[in-house]
Amino acid sequence: MKLIHTIAELRAELAKYERPALVPTMGNLHEGHLALVKQAKPLGDVTVASIFVNRLQFLPHEDFGTYPRTLEADCAKLQAAGCDVVFAPSEQELYPEPQGYKLQPPTELADILEGHFRPGFFTGVCTVVLKLFNIVQPAAAVFGAKDYQQQMVIRRMVAQLALPIDIHTGATLRAADGLALSSRNGYLSAAERAEAVQLSLTLKGMIAALQQGERDIGRIEAQAVQALTARGWQPDYLTVRRRHDLQPPQADDFGPDSLVVLGAARLGTTRLIDNLEA
Ligand code: PAF
Repeated sequence: MKLIHTIAELRAELAKYERPALVPTMGNLHEGHLALVKQAKPLGDVTVASIFVNRLQFLPHEDFGTYPRTLEADCAKLQAAGCDVVFAPSEQELYPEPQGYKLQPPTELADILEGHFRPGFFTGVCTVVLKLFNIVQPAAAVFGAKDYQQQMVIRRMVAQLALPIDIHTGATLRAADGLALSSRNGYLSAAERAEAVQLSLTLKGMIAALQQGERDIGRIEAQAVQALTARGWQPDYLTVRRRHDLQPPQADDFGPDSLVVLGAARLGTTRLIDNLEA
């Protein structure tokens, strides 16, 4: 496996191949990321993982400064997962001057849910992902389903900009108790880690309510918020949405395979997100 830090070196290396498959990450890798790498392997003739903590997608009060940078351990894991090339640029390499050109995704998809609570988040994500796509020129790229809205935003960006890239989504990997794997789980204390599964349990409870015929979405959401708040969480949202556009469902949207429940909530100082298709 090659570890490459510059765009020029990466382009020289990838010139030997025709169809790179890319897994963009911010590092501090866990089994979920490695599953995306394994999924990417048959999609191209060379598997590239990028590791870059992207300042543009963090708000000033968020964890950009403290986000774990664990390049050596990440490389060992990527090598074991069969990755061929790791692209880990410095900030100076990727943003040699302030990134004045940014990609602004449509408000109806990008300013709701995560975008509402993290204004500018998807502009930062789209800008860096488009830049990584331009650098790597992948035939395929794989994103995790835990970031449900992110993979939708990226799929639409690729479609609307006619980028010749197949976007694949990798299933969310979960710990034995059901907690979705996330780099931010590492911030949790032992007591918080034991509590953290309640986010996915609450989403499951919302699905159970839908399956039992509850159609008052406001009531389902309010009960979920109340349940997590009573346990000491600070929910940003716990919501039932249509899968295809993440808008609230209307009366005729309750058919099979049409809804998703999504949640974001803070436990102590750690903000966790999760989702389940209903
Ligand atoms: O999901 C992530 O880790 C990041 O948002 C991504 C896609 C690597 C862009 O920085």
